[in-house]
Amino acid sequence: MKVTVVGAGAVGASCAEYIAIKNFASEVVILDIKENFAEGKAMDLMQTASLNGFDTKITGSTNDYTKTAGSDIAVITSGIPRKPGMTREELIGINAGIVKEVSSNLIKHSPDVTIIVVSNPMDTMTYLVHKTTGLPKNRIIGMGGALDSARFKYRLSEALEAPASDVDGMVIGGHSDTGMVPLTRLATRNSVPVSEFISEERLNQVAEDTKVGGATLTKMLGTSAWYAPGAAVSGLVQAIACDQKKIFPCSTLLSGEYGLDDLCIGVPVVLGKDGIEKIVEIELNDAEKTKLKESAEGVKKTNGLLEL
Ligand SMILES: NC(=O)c1ccc[n+]([C@@H]2O[C@H](COP(=O)([O-])OP(=O)(O)OC[C@H]3O[C@@H](n4cnc5c(N)ncnc54)[C@H](O)[C@@H]3O)[C@@H](O)[C@H]2O)c1
Repeated sequence: MKVTVVGAGAVGASCAEYIAIKNFASEVVILDIKENFAEGKAMDLMQTASLNGFDTKITGSTNDYTKTAGSDIAVITSGIPRKPGMTREELIGINAGIVKEVSSNLIKHSPDVTIIVVSNPMDTMTYLVHKTTGLPKNRIIGMGGALDSARFKYRLSEALEAPASDVDGMVIGGHSDTGMVPLTRLATRNSVPVSEFISEERLNQVAEDTKVGGATLTKMLGTSAWYAPGAAVSGLVQAIACDQKKIFPCSTLLSGEYGLDDLCIGVPVVLGKDGIEKIVEIELNDAEKTKLKESAEGVKKTNGLLEL
């Protein structure tokens, strides 16, 4: 199992670290355009192998895609992150060019690769990869919902005064401050609906805090977060690499599912060795359907900015 991570920045390095620590991949190649940067990150990470007890071989490459040849999975984190006060959508001008070039280089050397898109605006970048690579739709996956759901569970655990491991919940929709749809109705604490424990008002606050989860951290850190994004990506990589058949909300190309068409947006999917093996259509109530539709309109508006 060979995994390439493009972008050795905050998210790329965190993702490579979690993949290594989980010890399921034989090889991780980190690639960056900045001279020696990926090599340095790879060496630093390899020096944790004896400390953290993993056998994954991590190497770095300065923009040499021959080193990525034969990758089973590639993660695209290259591009600029947002600064405080910016929306993810504002990154499109620079990141679209980077994502297009990177995905085409990846496929040249790994025609059977499954691509996980992380760069923002993520739903639109995932759509761009569809439009420009011709890879089958099951092998193009956008990561956003797994992170947003982890943030939702964090906020739920705070409100419930319960450990996050006792809480379950999912966020669907676009990966944006306004487009996320935290499914509060379906959230549970050890299979009991969370509404049994907290008021509707508190639950609405949890949903609002979840939606601005990334912006909150960007304001505190001066750049966007990396630990939870890296861990979320590693979860998707592991589900595919180990054929786990786990459900994650991922951005995927919809062709009529949820009444939506010709866009990538977050919905629950089953992840296994073939990438997205199934789109899971859950019954939404009218309010949730309306929110998802509005979210889709936002994503389509951003897609309209692409020069395809
Ligand atoms: N989808 C999500 O949930 C999510 C979460 C966090 C961050 N992000 C996004 O991920 C991206 C990376 O964030 P970060 O914090 O790691 O940024 P960063 O600036 O720390 O790292 C980005 C790296 O990409 C490299 N790069 C730029 N152009 C490249 C190219 N053409 N080829 C190879 N490498 C190139 C840069 O040199 C840099 O090292 C941003 O767009 C950010 O908004 C997405």
